[in-house]
Amino acid sequence: MTKMAQVTAGHLDKDADWWRGAVIYQIYPRSYQDSNGDGIGDLAGIVQRLPYIASLGVDAIWISPFFTSPMKDFGYDVSDYCDVDPMFGKLSDFDAVVAKAHDLDVKVMIDLVLSHTSDQHPWFQESKADRTNDKANWYVWADPKEDGTPPNNWLSIFGGSGWQWHAGREQYYYHCFLTSQPDLNFWEPAVQDALLDVAQFWLKRGVDGFRLDTINFYTHDKELRDNPALPKDKRNSTIAPSVNPYNHQEHLYSKNRPENLDFLRKLRAVMVPYNAAAVGEVGDAQRGLEIMGEYTAGDDLMQMCYAFEFLSGEQPSAQTVADVMARVDNEAADGWACWAYSNHDVVRHSTRWALSPDAQRLFTTMMMCLRGSACIYQGEELGLGEADVAYSDLQDPYGIEFWPEFKGRDGCRTPMVWEPSNQNGGFSTAQRPWLPVSQDHIANSVAAQEDDPNAIIHHYRRAIALRHAHPALTKGDHDGVKAIGDIVYFTRSLNGEKVFCAFNVGDAPADLALPKGAWESIAHDLSGADAPVGDTLTLAPWQVFIAASPST
Ligand code: BGC
Ligand code: MG
Repeated sequence: MTKMAQVTAGHLDKDADWWRGAVIYQIYPRSYQDSNGDGIGDLAGIVQRLPYIASLGVDAIWISPFFTSPMKDFGYDVSDYCDVDPMFGKLSDFDAVVAKAHDLDVKVMIDLVLSHTSDQHPWFQESKADRTNDKANWYVWADPKEDGTPPNNWLSIFGGSGWQWHAGREQYYYHCFLTSQPDLNFWEPAVQDALLDVAQFWLKRGVDGFRLDTINFYTHDKELRDNPALPKDKRNSTIAPSVNPYNHQEHLYSKNRPENLDFLRKLRAVMVPYNAAAVGEVGDAQRGLEIMGEYTAGDDLMQMCYAFEFLSGEQPSAQTVADVMARVDNEAADGWACWAYSNHDVVRHSTRWALSPDAQRLFTTMMMCLRGSACIYQGEELGLGEADVAYSDLQDPYGIEFWPEFKGRDGCRTPMVWEPSNQNGGFSTAQRPWLPVSQDHIANSVAAQEDDPNAIIHHYRRAIALRHAHPALTKGDHDGVKAIGDIVYFTRSLNGEKVFCAFNVGDAPADLALPKGAWESIAHDLSGADAPVGDTLTLAPWQVFIAASPST
């Protein structure tokens, strides 16, 4: 048996439902661990740190892109889907990640960026050569209007028109992100086949699933109709910062097209033999949950969609949490969300929501109780805040474009901090890592927290362990989701196990009448309240009550 076949074979016996309720740890590989001193994190660095990741109790890792790339969007611009960029290592290093993760019983999800490629991808190089080559139709090419302007009003999220002129073809091509990230044309069957081959390539190499970048952006309107303007009172900035005119449109024709479902069905069929799971990133400020409902319905599409509801600027109130859950029930009754508070695109939530340490802990516990799967972003388990990155150190083209009203995404992408003793926090031996290590972070390094029983890292471990100890919390249904004042509460249940969860997201004590039953607290080690005497519960500010009822 070849080495690769062994990796694959060992993993075919996994439970097809492994993703439901899973806790997924997101690694931004440039900033996790640098093993070769070049100032950039790499795959060998991830291998070194996998025992740490496993010690958190997570089910899976999602690794942001490590494929060959000119790195204009730091790997979200792929020039070879089936190889590793030399700065991250080689394919054999990826095999080592998979082997080590599987030894530790951690699943591996990779980030497939299928909506667009880099302009350096050989497919684009060929496509742009003329209008008649074999790949002439692989990207979204269009003639100018009579007056020479772009074919329609579609915008790029990274600023300006979504259309870039190409003198060679005397045509525009569409790019929803950078001009160096041309969108693939999903109307071309050969494009879909090539992308399905990419998925197959990695499944054969042993991956357990995918995070699918911008899954609702795949297909565009064939007639290239203009997007309608979005009235000012309907605009919200969960996807793009408020200073971005991208928020001024309803993206009716440039994304969310019904034809996406056909491709997703084909992709799922490729995944089935491997019991692989996918979480599709649905970026849409208005219709996100509705699209989640469409894409996760039944069992022939995606298992999960990654939701933006808790990535927004405002700290969720009790009512917001209840409303989001009610909308999921209405709009995605048959579906499954994957929640996140932080990722490589948004300001870290402890800063974004200006959380007190107690509030931060409560939201962690809450995420482990919500119906859905959960993503934790590297460093979140250390309670890290957003790093302050000077303009002169800025790397993110998005931040450079909109500075200073929007500072881009570098503040959440600075390197992970492992030890307090070293200037780069144990991330790298380089003089200057690709982004500076935040000196504010160093006191909160992993090593410093491991030695402190009160540190937040242990809270994350306990919250994750609580979820795993109760199948109702992992895979169960939820009902009775309600907010009264600052308390949000609900019951999770599965096969007779019932878990009642209540959270006081306010600064004052609050009372709650408990549902009937004998409730026994299971969250003492998460500063959970004791069971009340009688049936009224008083929760201190930022206190939780999580309790099991013996099965009836
Ligand atoms: C990724 C971003 C990336 C964009 C374009 C997003 O949703 O998370 O980091 O810039 O897709 O690929
Ligand atoms: Mg390196």
